[in-house]
Amino acid sequence: MGHLPRMVADPWAFLRTLPAHGDLVTVMIGPQAVHTLCDPALLHQVLVDDRRYDKGGPLFDKAREVLGDGLATCPHEVHRRLRRLVQPAFHPSRLPGYADLMARQIADVIDGWQDGQVIDVPGQTHAIAAGVATTTMFSTRIDPRQVAATRRSVQIAMSGIYRRLLTPNGLDRLPLPANRRYDQARARLHRTVDDIVTRACDGPGTDHGDLLSTLLAASDGPDGLSPREITDQVVTFFVSGVTSITSGLAWALHMLTQHPDLADQVHQEADDVLGGRTATWQDWPHLGLTRRFVTETMRLYPPGWIFTRKVTAHTHLAGRILPAGSVLAFSPYLLHHRPDLFPEPERFDPGRWTPERAADIPPYAYVPFGAGPRKCIGETFTLLQSTLVLASIAARWRLHPVPGQRVRPALRATLVPRRLHLRLEARP
Ligand code: HEM
Repeated sequence: MGHLPRMVADPWAFLRTLPAHGDLVTVMIGPQAVHTLCDPALLHQVLVDDRRYDKGGPLFDKAREVLGDGLATCPHEVHRRLRRLVQPAFHPSRLPGYADLMARQIADVIDGWQDGQVIDVPGQTHAIAAGVATTTMFSTRIDPRQVAATRRSVQIAMSGIYRRLLTPNGLDRLPLPANRRYDQARARLHRTVDDIVTRACDGPGTDHGDLLSTLLAASDGPDGLSPREITDQVVTFFVSGVTSITSGLAWALHMLTQHPDLADQVHQEADDVLGGRTATWQDWPHLGLTRRFVTETMRLYPPGWIFTRKVTAHTHLAGRILPAGSVLAFSPYLLHHRPDLFPEPERFDPGRWTPERAADIPPYAYVPFGAGPRKCIGETFTLLQSTLVLASIAARWRLHPVPGQRVRPALRATLVPRRLHLRLEARP
């Protein structure tokens, strides 16, 4: 069993104990040795050398079942070509158009809220993130019934990935109800996306201003994306994007209720900049405090909290010899909670991110989006969306905790609150 029982009982408390044992600490997950990187400089060394330290290891092997050979899970040998073909979808010139679609989706969800209502927070942030993902990806090419089915499939698939990660090999192939639900959700997700991609490939080659248009444009020529590759990218964007943004936003709303003084400042900025309306692209540069609030939330609760790599050639790292095939892990959560990197790490303090104070944070200590050639392609898209959502909510609603609720993370591949309900109060 190794460290598995402690990892399952409270993985975050366990991770916080590791830096005391060194820069590279071996954890046993059952019979599997996982060498965990506890130092920012060492992490940098690994992340920049994505040929020697390739995607692989238990987390990616499971994630690949859902994401196929999408950009996040593909091996180094195909990564450069894919990244070059996919990058135009995230070019800065596309962001203003995405921001318009985001604003519409945000309004769609928060316009339906009622004064005094108690909301299921991850449910609502998921509705916003999934709405934004479907419109920015497919513009109007998706049927609303497909949106609901896709949301459900993503949820089942994501909890399945983590459960299967900790399940002994073999058990995940038994015909158990949870395995069947996972297989069905995976198949449904791929069918829906396949269907949209096939229809889009057959249609006229117009640019709809969505992500799918840029992927279709990248399908021309002998080196272009194949329909299978397009489907894998779309599923990857949808799953990684929606689940991470859902979780980051849910924690940000929780933080508003836990820190009324800071919440007052966020409300004030929303009043000054928005005056009660939904935030748009033009507002983004003026929402600095809200953005720091988002940044600090992702320090305390990084949505992607653990990642793995596989060593592809016999190597020396941190004074140790690692044979090819060894497994490494890194955890943004672990680094973000080191007291020597972030003084009083458990304290929520958006002020850490003012330019003067942020200059003291060591390089690669803050890595919610990873680093190096495999760094998140959706970073700016995420910061834009999260800031617009938080400011739009703060402009119109004050949030209150529900008494008696203990908010803890769920055991999932993404760090998301297990249960979080908040009461809404309409602001005058
Ligand atoms: C809160 C939001 C997000 C967080 C915290 C996040 C986090 C990350 C991290 C840590 C990585 C690197 C993983 C590794 O090194 O193994 C990554 C990669 C990636 N992310 Fe995100 N992500 C977020 C949102 C998004 C969005 C919105 C999209 C797409 C629409 C996206 C698409 C990707 C892709 C495609 C990769 C792989 C990049 C590559 O290998 O070239 N992510 N993300």
